[in-house]
Formats: sequence, structure tokens, C-alpha cells
Amino acid sequence: MIEASQLNKSFDGRVAVQDVSFRVPEGGRLMLLGTSGSGKTTTLRMLNRLIDPDGGTVLFRGQDTRTFRPEILRRQMGYVMQQYGLFPHYTVAENIAIVPRLLHWDKPRIRRRTEDLLRQLGLSWDAHAHQYPNQLSGGQQQRVGLARALAADPPVLLMDEPFGALDPVTRTRIRQEFLELDEFKSKTVVMVTHDIRDALELGDHIGIMDKGRIIQMGTPDELQQNPANDFVAAFLHGQTDAS
Ligand SMILES: Nc1ncnc2c1ncn2[C@@H]1O[C@H](COP(=O)(O)OP(=O)(O)OP(=O)(O)O)[C@@H](O)[C@H]1O
Ligand SMILES: [Mg+2]
Repeated sequence: MIEASQLNKSFDGRVAVQDVSFRVPEGGRLMLLGTSGSGKTTTLRMLNRLIDPDGGTVLFRGQDTRTFRPEILRRQMGYVMQQYGLFPHYTVAENIAIVPRLLHWDKPRIRRRTEDLLRQLGLSWDAHAHQYPNQLSGGQQQRVGLARALAADPPVLLMDEPFGALDPVTRTRIRQEFLELDEFKSKTVVMVTHDIRDALELGDHIGIMDKGRIIQMGTPDELQQNPANDFVAAFLHGQTDAS
């Protein structure tokens, strides 16, 4: 479904991402796990061409993403931004409707879809559709960010620290809700996190990133049983202990 090969990216001569390669099959869930500044967001944004790599290629369904118009590509890849990324001057309903509007859905269809998503995510049209993001709690904003990414039913979801701003209790609950959501189950997912518990619960594969590189890639079991080096071991172990 998504195949990244030897991605490289520097900003102002400083390497942010180096030789990053991975494959995510249809329905797969890859977690990019690493410390702050390790190149996770940059990697994610090279998948939907929010950032163009200096070198390397990304294939989507076997086709080089450079052959897509960026906006066409992005409609196939719902994007949940780090820190929600909701438009503050749009209501909840308007935020969720952004891609459906671009796709010229008619109003009743957008309304039905928005109501349905809000309900699935434990929010309601009457209580929340006309609120602005700053009137919502962090957890509610996070759900709206997910609803927006899911609105036009893209096959791929790119999620950047979707639970990053939440307290541990809310984080655990929302993570569980995501897992149980039918719409989430059918997606191909690439998700960025610095939280080992997110990665273990949501991922079928985990790529550990450090200093712009993926230093180990494997299933949760493989990483836990055979960490490639002390960094991986410390990362898995240290954060698990902190829970
Ligand atoms: N637009 C930019 N201009 C200059 N440097 C950038 C830019 N975006 C990222 N960087 C640098 O690239 C490196 C990787 O950044 P990136 O945002 O990918 O890290 P990250 O793993 O997502 O970190 P975090 O967990 O803090 O979000 C960092 O050193 C960062 O300062
Ligand atoms: Mg980031």
C-alpha cells in the first residue's frame, strides 16, 4: 500500500531524516516510535507530500507519489496532526466537512456523515457541531481531529501523536475507543508516537527512530524479545517502567 525507500531530508544543512525505508501493506499499522527530534513528523509528512524528500521515493499503491497531484494524494490519506491542528475559526462541523466540501458532496450528505462520525466518536451533533475548538476539551478536540481525517473515508490514515496532549487516563481510554472503532479497523495506518504503550497496543509493526534513522523495525514481540541495541532496549524498557 505504502512503500518508502531511502528517504532523506535535511533542513538548512542539518539531517532530519536519513535512509528511511519501510513497507506498509494494506490494512497494516506501522508505528514510528522515537524521541523528540528523531525525524518522525518529517517522515510522516513525506508520505503525503507535505514535505518533499531530498532523496528517495514513496510509492502509494505501487505508484510514485510524485506522479500524483498533492491534493489528490492527500484525499487518500487522512491526516491527524500533532496538537489536533483544528482550524480555530471553524466550528466542529465545519472542520469535519473540509474534505467532503472539497469533494463537492451535497449538504445533506455532509450533514449525515458528520452526525454519524460525531456519534461514533462519542460526541453529538446537538451538543458539539456548532462549538469552536477552544470550547472543547483536549480529548474532544482529538476526536474531532480524527473525525476530520476519517470524513471522506480515505484508505490511509497518517496520525501524528494523536494522543500527545492527553493525560494518561484519557489517553488510555481514547486509544481503546480508536481500537474499537469499525472505521479505524479497516484503515492502513502510519502513526507517530513517543509512547511505547501506544505503539504496542495499536501497531502490528514498530519502527524505532533515533537521529533521523529507523534503527530497528519489527513486530512488538520481536522488538521486546530481541532489541537490536541498548538504545532500543532502554527505550522500550525505560518507558514501560515509567507506566
Ligand atoms: N521546517 C523545518 N525547518 C527546519 N528544521 C526542521 C523543520 N522541520 C523539522 N526540522 C528539524 O528536523 C528534525 C526532525 O524534526 P521532526 O519534527 O521530524 O521530529 P519529531 O521526531 O517529529 O519530533 P517531536 O517528537 O518533537 O515532534 C529536528 O531537528 C527539527 O528541528
Ligand atoms: Mg513531531
